Amino acid sequence: MVSRVVPVDPFDLVVFGATGDLARRKLIPALYRRMADGQMLDTARIICAARSDLDTDGFRKLASDALDTFVSKDEIEGDTRERFLSCLTYLQLDVTSEAGWDKLRGLLSDDGRPCAYYLSVAPRFFGVIAEAIRKVGLVDEQTRIVIEKPLGRDLESARELNRQFAEGFAESQVYRIDHYLGKETVQNLMALRFANALFEPLWNAQHIDHVQITAAESVGIEGRGPYYDNVGAMRDMVQNHLLQLLCLTAMEPPSHFEPDAVRDEKLKVLRALQPLNDPSDVVRGQYRGGTSTSAYHDDAENPESRTESFVALKATISNWRWAGVPFYLRTGKRLRNRVSEIAIQFKDIPHSIFSASAAAPKSNVLAIRLQPDEGITLSMTIKDPGPGGMRFKETELDMSFADSLALTGKRMPDAYERLIMDVIRGDQTLFMRGDEVEAAWSWVDPIIHGWQNSVPSLYDSGSSGPEDSLMLLHREGRRWREISA
Ligand code: NDP
Ligand code: BG6
Repeated sequence: MVSRVVPVDPFDLVVFGATGDLARRKLIPALYRRMADGQMLDTARIICAARSDLDTDGFRKLASDALDTFVSKDEIEGDTRERFLSCLTYLQLDVTSEAGWDKLRGLLSDDGRPCAYYLSVAPRFFGVIAEAIRKVGLVDEQTRIVIEKPLGRDLESARELNRQFAEGFAESQVYRIDHYLGKETVQNLMALRFANALFEPLWNAQHIDHVQITAAESVGIEGRGPYYDNVGAMRDMVQNHLLQLLCLTAMEPPSHFEPDAVRDEKLKVLRALQPLNDPSDVVRGQYRGGTSTSAYHDDAENPESRTESFVALKATISNWRWAGVPFYLRTGKRLRNRVSEIAIQFKDIPHSIFSASAAAPKSNVLAIRLQPDEGITLSMTIKDPGPGGMRFKETELDMSFADSLALTGKRMPDAYERLIMDVIRGDQTLFMRGDEVEAAWSWVDPIIHGWQNSVPSLYDSGSSGPEDSLMLLHREGRRWREISA
């Protein structure tokens, strides 16, 4: 069945920081693709603001170059590029200055359409912009404000950020992006769990041995060195993306697929995470240089750096459903391959009826692959076909989303396409609520504080991470899944 594209109503979108990396690499391509698919109409008005000395024609040229760089050639067809560019207006504006805000007001529609302000600027400008748009009367009940990580660097700063936004906006107006929630497979995890009767009865400590959540990258931190060195993998990936994946895997079924119903359930999971008191339950690492690859130190331009480019940890959830089931989380740069997945490892069968010569059947694994090759696989044990008695063989039920989309002639949408359209539609289901962000920091902060005098273990580029991360599972008779593409 081909899914139907429902166009969104006319809207205004103001992108602060429109000349920056995020805008060029993600936002402009996402908006273009939504127009190409017929979801965003020519009535949309996109005001692109930054300090650079450009006029609208100059900015349209920049946006057109961004399309050439970040959108594949075969997606650019017909008059869509021109139609898209004509929706863009540039506004030269320094957000720290008093000037320019009235001009912004003049560019916005007064027909009651929703207006979203996307703060694609450094976090130090969040409060400044929030206050300025309020002061000049650009906030009403149709206003939405969109922010991206980093949402603070610890609990205190996250609370302060939430306080700043709460002064001018209702929580229902604040859209905190975690782009992992916009990934197609992450949404499919909810479909898998709550639109099928098959798995939910097995989704608990009685049947599941453990869960592995991996977000491995093959690239290093090149190009983002000084920023990343001040952050590290725990803040960059675990506090947000990995904990969100854990929440969606572990949460109870919400009563409805509605923003607060879903977010209430995720919050309960975060609050049920046991404090990670045992230092041996967390391993951090840093990649070393190779013959043809630079070391983290060089990329970070900091020879003394103790920042981690890798984290592996064991989390446990104190509730009836998950008592005794470890959730192993792992993320890192310069690992063997780029792979993100959630693997649900089921328990062994309680008793084998087969002779010892048949070899014990392997336990089932349900793997939800976020990237690459988005899809779901279920590993099963079957009889090796043919004569030779009862010998077993592992096989996989493989549901590839990429293949199913290819059959319909479609491509896998980027997370930002879905998320920006949800902002316009006013649907916060895939966005983090302020209390979720705080709960995640509450759990992560003590772990980071515990590292004050520790040195990360070194690992080779192209490996699976430091040796001691393997021990995290080996000592419990388990092993990590291969980081294979
Ligand atoms: P960049 O540094 O590439 O872009 C910053 C933008 O802000 C530029 O357009 C710059 O334009 C503008 N800017 C800077 N100062 C001012 C000012 N005083 N007034 C108005 N505009 C200003 O950053 P990114 O695009 O990489 O990141 C933007 C935000 O998104 C950050 O908070 C970042 O943490 C977050 N983020 C980025 C991701 C990415 O992939 N890049 C991923 C996730 C989050 P000009 O110099 O013309 O004013
Ligand atoms: C970002 C992190 O949030 O996610 C980056 O800041 C990381 O360090 C990126 O590379 C990974 O996203 P994806 O979608 O490529 O898995």
